[in-house]
Amino acid sequence: MVHLAQVHRDSSVDQRLDSLSLESEEDGPYSSVYGTRFAAEQLPLTEMPEREMPREVAYRMIKDELSLDGNPILNLASFVTTYMEEEAEKLMAESLSKNFIDYEEYPQTAEIQNRCVNMIARLFNAPTDSTNDHPMGTSTVGSSEAIMLGSLALKRRWQHKRKAAGQDTSRPNIIMNSAVQVCWEKAARYFDIEERYVYCTDERYVIDPQQAVDLVDENTIGICAILGTTYTGEYEDIKAINDLLVERDLDCPIHVDAASGGFVAPFVAPSLEWDFRLEKVVSINVSGHKYGLVYPGVGWVVWRSPEYLPQDLIFNINYLGAEQASFTLNFSKGASQVIGQYYQMIRLGRRGFRAIMVNITRIADYLAEQLEKLGFQILSQGGGRGLPVVAFKLANKEEGHFDETTLAHQLRERGWIVPAYTMAPNSGSMKLMRVVVREDFSMSRCDALLADFKLALKTLSDMDEEMVKKFQRHVQTHTVHSHKANHSHPHYKGETHSLQGKSGKTHGVC
Ligand SMILES: Cc1ncc(COP(=O)(O)O)c(C=O)c1O
Repeated sequence: MVHLAQVHRDSSVDQRLDSLSLESEEDGPYSSVYGTRFAAEQLPLTEMPEREMPREVAYRMIKDELSLDGNPILNLASFVTTYMEEEAEKLMAESLSKNFIDYEEYPQTAEIQNRCVNMIARLFNAPTDSTNDHPMGTSTVGSSEAIMLGSLALKRRWQHKRKAAGQDTSRPNIIMNSAVQVCWEKAARYFDIEERYVYCTDERYVIDPQQAVDLVDENTIGICAILGTTYTGEYEDIKAINDLLVERDLDCPIHVDAASGGFVAPFVAPSLEWDFRLEKVVSINVSGHKYGLVYPGVGWVVWRSPEYLPQDLIFNINYLGAEQASFTLNFSKGASQVIGQYYQMIRLGRRGFRAIMVNITRIADYLAEQLEKLGFQILSQGGGRGLPVVAFKLANKEEGHFDETTLAHQLRERGWIVPAYTMAPNSGSMKLMRVVVREDFSMSRCDALLADFKLALKTLSDMDEEMVKKFQRHVQTHTVHSHKANHSHPHYKGETHSLQGKSGKTHGVC
């Protein structure tokens, strides 16, 4: 039914809108969020405002601004968890005000961390029944902090050994693949360790065990081996490195960077030997916030025995009466992530983790198969021989007039974030794209992505060369002038000390 409404005469209404002053009035208790002066003003950018704003306004203004961020669920660039159950979120939210370091006040939280360390150490086959070895570990903010701690321990052990033999300790080096995550470069630079690289080639994107062991000398503090590289998700052959070291009787430990693979391989490839089953493996890191299924940031690092974690790196902290051995870079941190990790481990158990990891491995295989049919060359390993990650490139780039970057931007039109990278140095400036299959990437989402891939390929193929060039120019200008680009400080532009600075390698998103 339609009502015919009567328009009241001026004389019968109190005040008409156009007779109101456009000067903002003081916001009263009844102003709606968008009726306050804050909605009509620029949000503070550089100076902390003198006066308060109502909390619901602050909330809404920031939420609105954040809505311009990408949708984490469609962000296929990231390894980091984007889904947790409501009960886990509730537990984590309830623990937001707890400082993890305050063991005296929150002893149960400390106990929960210790349970997690125990479970993870056992998952990595730590020698828990040995009389010589007595494994230990700690939580960190992520794998980067865990790797810093692991590198420090390798360096300090090497220094002690050299000092005891009256030898020089000024030139430590570490051996790694040029596809390492940037945190390894940082660790080496921050702690004055020479980086010795085994370079990737056009065909090999992981470390060559022989070359790695050939680089070992008296100043080598250890070899970093990656269980699931950031670029292609491939597992490095850690057993081959171990066996060569044993064969040559070299006292060179291995640290395994299992940032992503540590929570995948034990469930999908349990017979793969990469962990403490190998005698040269002395420490392992893993990110709880990747396939450990917890929101960022939590990581873990475990050592085989105190021999590999020298005592002079440990501080006994007496915090409000409780004595705790501590090895961290930061003091205070939130307790929520450690609690979230414990939730995931007891909620899912080994069977639950296996079910998720097997599902996403299958979905990754399906995606790879379909992308191959669309004309892509697959660069990652399938069938659980690597992470559930699909890395690929256009197989016949010469035929088309667009590249992976252009395709990535076309997919962005539909909200998908599928990154395009330049591979590690010495891989012929190869470009690749990568989809990280996470827990919440179900088969139907995978099909939706494939449909959009087809659409994007068709759209770009239908464009003539000139149009694609125009689009690429637009993309370039857009990227350069987006908010993202504005953050870099001119003083630090164009550094030449990193692999990126030297070779143009771009770092994969994690
Ligand atoms: C192999 C590898 N190592 C280390 C890291 C750093 O991990 P985090 O982000 O947990 O600090 C990443 C990140 O993806 C990674 O892939």
